[in-house]
Amino acid sequence: MVSYKELGLVNTREMFAKAIKGGYAIPAFNFNNMEQLQAIIKASAETKSPVILQVSKGARNYANQTLLRYMAQGAVEYAKELGWEHPQICLHLDHGDSFELCKSCVDFGFSSVMIDASSLPYEENIALTKKVVEYAHKYDVTVEAELGVLAGVEDEVSSAVSHYTKPEEVVDFATRTGCDSLAISIGTSHGAYKFTPEQCTRDPKTDRLVPPPLAFDVLDAIMEQLPGFPIVLHGSSSVPQEYVDMINQYGGKLPDAVGIPEEQLRKAAKSAVCKINIDSDSRLAFTAAVRKVFAEKPGEFDPRKYCGPARDLMEELYKHKIINVLGSNGHAE
Ligand code: 13P
Repeated sequence: MVSYKELGLVNTREMFAKAIKGGYAIPAFNFNNMEQLQAIIKASAETKSPVILQVSKGARNYANQTLLRYMAQGAVEYAKELGWEHPQICLHLDHGDSFELCKSCVDFGFSSVMIDASSLPYEENIALTKKVVEYAHKYDVTVEAELGVLAGVEDEVSSAVSHYTKPEEVVDFATRTGCDSLAISIGTSHGAYKFTPEQCTRDPKTDRLVPPPLAFDVLDAIMEQLPGFPIVLHGSSSVPQEYVDMINQYGGKLPDAVGIPEEQLRKAAKSAVCKINIDSDSRLAFTAAVRKVFAEKPGEFDPRKYCGPARDLMEELYKHKIINVLGSNGHAE
């Protein structure tokens, strides 16, 4: 058993309380390799932003759980080395799908876990979430749960259709499970293809898809039911068109990839939404930068020469999200 406290990590409790009061959101960036982690930590340290390092089940299998723990521990030390005196870094399991996986993460030094039982019938979601909460809270590990279903594909989690969270269920769910935060479904979606062309309109000037707006009325109704309770938005990549264009220009094929407009995320961040999950945007930045090097310098075979530019572009992306979208900069001095 390793406690996250020994690793210098923090859980989400204080982060979320401050974020709700301050009208900003904490970035939850997924990572599964060194370059992503370096970019996240550099961006967070330079902007003094609290940050959630997010690991999915797939990423944990990819990177190896032992290595991941040391990477998170190393991230804290790296942050200090960069001059961030009091790093506020949380290591979070994204989309845990069983009690065993959540328990294993708690035992392995994670400071926060998500149990995603949202695809199960309501009572089963409550029972499983409650079991995880009871275990995690013994070690002061915070727990995110989910009500409602997001569309899209992310690692092993996928659903063709979305079901908005029902505001009339949230009080009963939060009270009976004891969860610390709640991921809701209001129209965001996982992946780089969040909406089909049929769900969108098309901007005649740019020929780009314009996605349907998020259901802020559902968010408002949820906040009315659970005042001050930490709300989480998954599937919140914006799918920046400059990265999509770069990928397509340099031999990729991502037609009509579309995400959540940043002004809608900015609006959400000012509410009780205090954690915003971003994964696909970093994948796009990485891929765009690597494709550019490969296209322009076909003789290049030193991974540092293409992973380096990928890291730089991701760092730029993370800083932009922190400062211009979530507003979390300067909240972890
Ligand atoms: P994106 O695919 O929109 O980046 O969402 C990531 C996410 O929600 C991770 O849980």
